[in-house]
Amino acid sequence: MSKAEEPAAVSMSFGPGKLPSRPEIFDFHGVSMTHYFTDNWENIQNFQARPDDILIATYPKAGTTWASYILDLLHFGQTERQTSVPIFDRVPFLEIILPSSYSGKDLVDNLPTSPRLIKTHYPVQFVPKSFWEQNCRIVYVARNAKDNMVSYFHFDRMNMVQPEAGDWSSYIPRFIEGKVAFGSWYDHVNDWWKKKQTYPKLHYMFYEDLVEDTGREIDKLCCFLGLSRSDEEKRRVTDGAHFDNMKKDDMANYSTNAVMDFKISPFMRKGKVGDWKNHFSVAQSETFDEDYKKKMTDVTLQFRTEI
Ligand code: PPS
Repeated sequence: MSKAEEPAAVSMSFGPGKLPSRPEIFDFHGVSMTHYFTDNWENIQNFQARPDDILIATYPKAGTTWASYILDLLHFGQTERQTSVPIFDRVPFLEIILPSSYSGKDLVDNLPTSPRLIKTHYPVQFVPKSFWEQNCRIVYVARNAKDNMVSYFHFDRMNMVQPEAGDWSSYIPRFIEGKVAFGSWYDHVNDWWKKKQTYPKLHYMFYEDLVEDTGREIDKLCCFLGLSRSDEEKRRVTDGAHFDNMKKDDMANYSTNAVMDFKISPFMRKGKVGDWKNHFSVAQSETFDEDYKKKMTDVTLQFRTEI
């Protein structure tokens, strides 16, 4: 068995009746968080990154799994690991810690791959300092606020380790005020954007660009990662990472994840740009846009809400 094929040491399994409970939101160093992402804080802050580690950083629901899947395929190809180990164990979520000893950090520490692909939703100021010291490559994916919020709303409905979503009309102000796990979308995308100006090994990409032309974005990723892949290999990655394909891949669609209730909403839900139009009323959209203009003053950071 090659290094990349060995199974991860820990997996997301809970005994019957042992599901973790829904958490409360609280302020943590100025950011709304839940204890599932702060209970391991000291260990995470002391995490030892390696120079070839690749961090995939996103605000929740911005395209983390898609980017993880693409990077995993680009680096390791389609091996037995890709068909037997779920994406959340291949690309562990660094800061998550759940009862039943599911710790993202333990998973990362036991990753058999090189490089290690690591997921985080942390705002930039929470990222363990060793990633900067080791000058690691970081791929940041951002998604327009309206679609991001819609996706997050449905995720909070179906994920038992997220705070209750409540109804849509009450969700909008909570999202706008950053009272959801990992805080303000506005701060997240802006602060990571600012970081890109001083940290050259940060590749900032957009979900909408990935939807528009996945192949083009994979070319850019290869360039950034220093990978030379043939056109045929890149085409295989583009096809493999297509929404329809990932949706039916049990190792990518989270169907093996015990904390999600797919009867409420699937993880691979729609995968579209512009689904917000099916959720916002005209009045809700106008209120949202007014507030958006006040918060998003950096003209160099532009999002597309339709393509
Ligand atoms: S998480 O829980 O934060 O890691 O979620 P994340 O992976 O960031 O985001 C989930 C949304 O990404 C969509 N997705 C995709 N869209 C298009 N193509 C592909 N291949 C793809 N893979 C995942 C997924 O459907 C979620 O978006 P919504 O809008 O809810 O469908």
